[in-house]
This record gives sequence, structure tokens and C-alpha cells, in this order.
Amino acid sequence: MSGAADTGARGAGAAGAPGGSRLRVRTVEIRPGAVVLIDQVALPQEERYVICRTWREVADRITDMTVRGAPAIGVTAAGGVALAAAEAAASASDPAAFEAALEQAASGLLATRPTAVNLRWALDEMRAAWRAALATPGATPAGVAQTLLARAQAIHDDDVDRCLRIGEHGAALFKAGDRILTHCNAGALATAGYGTALGVIRSAAAAHPDVSVWVDETRPWLQGARLTAWELQVEGIPYRLISDNMAGYFMRRGEVDGVVVGADRIAANGDTANKIGTYSVSVLAREHGVPFYVAAPLSTVDLTIEGGDAIPIEERDPAEVTTFRGEQVAPEGAPARHPAFDVTPAANIDAIVTEAGVLRPPFGPALAAACGGGECRP
Ligand code: MRU
Repeated sequence: MSGAADTGARGAGAAGAPGGSRLRVRTVEIRPGAVVLIDQVALPQEERYVICRTWREVADRITDMTVRGAPAIGVTAAGGVALAAAEAAASASDPAAFEAALEQAASGLLATRPTAVNLRWALDEMRAAWRAALATPGATPAGVAQTLLARAQAIHDDDVDRCLRIGEHGAALFKAGDRILTHCNAGALATAGYGTALGVIRSAAAAHPDVSVWVDETRPWLQGARLTAWELQVEGIPYRLISDNMAGYFMRRGEVDGVVVGADRIAANGDTANKIGTYSVSVLAREHGVPFYVAAPLSTVDLTIEGGDAIPIEERDPAEVTTFRGEQVAPEGAPARHPAFDVTPAANIDAIVTEAGVLRPPFGPALAAACGGGECRP
């Protein structure tokens, strides 16, 4: 882990957050010369912010999970390209060298985490923006750098907007008193704000204050216990934390009315990669007749991949399984595996909630139509 970034503390509920009082967390902020991230490794014990000033610092912070969650890493990477452009504008000798520096940054950022397609989506958006700007007569590297800063900020704001729409569409799937189970963190912390699965829960809770949430702890990184529980607590939405192996117990007792999770990549047929353990939850939900929903922006859809078997699954350090926050919990030298994501087959999914509406099976045609027949760029 390179520790080159500055850190600083600020209060939760950052003033001026897009979406007004409905958003309490400023996950990523893209400023001239800086990308500011809430430190998701330190949460919930400490609320601190990390300031990245180069694209390499941004890449390090994505790799080490300071920022995580599919849309959030896409938005952050866009901010990384804006930093690369500012740096290259000051040093590159000609437009070709400037563009080569941007390509180097984009490929370095893309290499950080392989599963969430939002990362590639955001970098493709930035590449399209720099190519268009460089092709403009009279373009200067400094001018292109300004354009890329504005584009990254627009990608950020657009993600918040998509999440708000996902929340509105998805809330209609739930009714008063529902007990909703979620896995991992697909909240404001995993996006530019509001969240996808947690956005649906936020909107459902706003409509029905007696809605409550089962929060899977989500071993080994504990995104549920540390991050989802923190978000719900800050917001006063009732929740109960359970370890991952308890979901079946509560479903069998009839205490789970629905499941909603986020996604890292949705293949053209609707197969969905999400945090490891999601597949098991989907199998349990199917067995117990509990509706299982995926909530994601269309930037998570990868129409170039037909089915889930082709989705690249990140394998992380097995030490993250054999240890807990640096403390050994398995015998010294215990062999382990650590796939960070799994794929839930489309057959186990009742609906995919997107900013364009609630999609129902068969997902192939529904996704193709929502994506405008080709690119998921509504
Ligand atoms: O490894 P992480 O914490 O980046 O994994 C996050 C998830 O799997 C989320 O559920 C997914 O990215 C959706 S976030 C809106």
C-alpha cells in the first residue's frame, strides 16, 4: 500500500452533497487537482478522508479498497484520468505525448480491479471525451484537461441521479412492514451517492417507515457489518445485522420478505456478478419463495458478455480470509481461497431494477432494449 495521499477529517452529512438531505455521505469528490475519498477501510470506527493528487494514488486507493463498490470505483477512476490530464498538460511536450499519458493512466486504473465493469465504462467515457476534445480545432492540453475535469464531475453527478431513479423504481417492489435482506454494501458508499440496492431500501423506507433490513455481515471484508450497518444507522433506518450463515434460518422462519443486492457486472442474459455470497443468498431465496432483486445502473451492464461464465472474477489475497484485520484466525500457513465475487444465474433473479425501470425476465431482450440496442449509455 503506498501512503502518498494526504488525509483529513470532516463530518458526515457533507454540506452541499447532491440530492440534498437524502444523502448523508460524500463518497467521492472530484475537485481541480484532487480526488477526495471517504476512507472505507477506516469506517465505521473512524470517519476520515483521503486526498489523492495523482492518478497513481487513485489507482492505489482503488486497489486497497479505500474506495470500493462498482459505481464508486468507476467515478473515482474518471477523477483519476482528470488528474492525469492536469499533470500531463503541465509536462507533455506535444498532443501525442499528452494522449499517451492519458492512455497510460487509463490502463493503470483499469488494471486495479477486474470484475466491476463500471470501471471500464467510466474510462471509456473519459477516452471518448479526450478524443473529441483533442479533435477540436485549436485544442490545447490545458483546455482538454479542463474538459476532462468537467466530464469526470458530470459522471459523478450522473451516477447520483441514476441511483435516485433506481430507488424510485425499486421502492414499488416493497410494501409496509417488509423485512428486506441485503448483502455487502451497495449504498451511498458504493456509488457517488444514495446507492443502488440501498437506494431502493432508502426509498422503500421513506415510503413505509416500518420497513426493516437484514444486513448480511459479508465476510471477509465485512462491507455489510461495517458499511451498510453504518449507513442505515446514520439514517435511522431499522436494521439487524446477521452473519452470512444466518440468512437461511430467517428465510425458513418466514422472516425475510425480499432480497435486494447490487451488481458488479450484468451479462447480456442477466447473469449477475456481485459480492461473494450473493449466489448462496439467491439459492436460499429461491428455495424459500423469497423474491430476489438486483439493483444497478445500466453502466453495470456488459452486453459484450453473453453469460456469467465469461465474467472475470477477482481473486484476492487468501490472507484476507485467514486473518481478520491483521490478526491470524486460522492456523499459521492455512491454505485458503478468496474469490471476491460470484455469479448469480439470471434464473434466480426476479427483477433487475435500473434507472430506466424495473426489468423482468427474460432479461436478454429487456436489457438490450434498456441499453438502446447496443451501448449502455442512456
Ligand atoms: O469488493 P467490493 O466491496 O468493491 O464489492 C462491492 C459489491 O459487490 C457491491 O455489491 C457492488 O459493487 C454493487 S455497489 C452499488
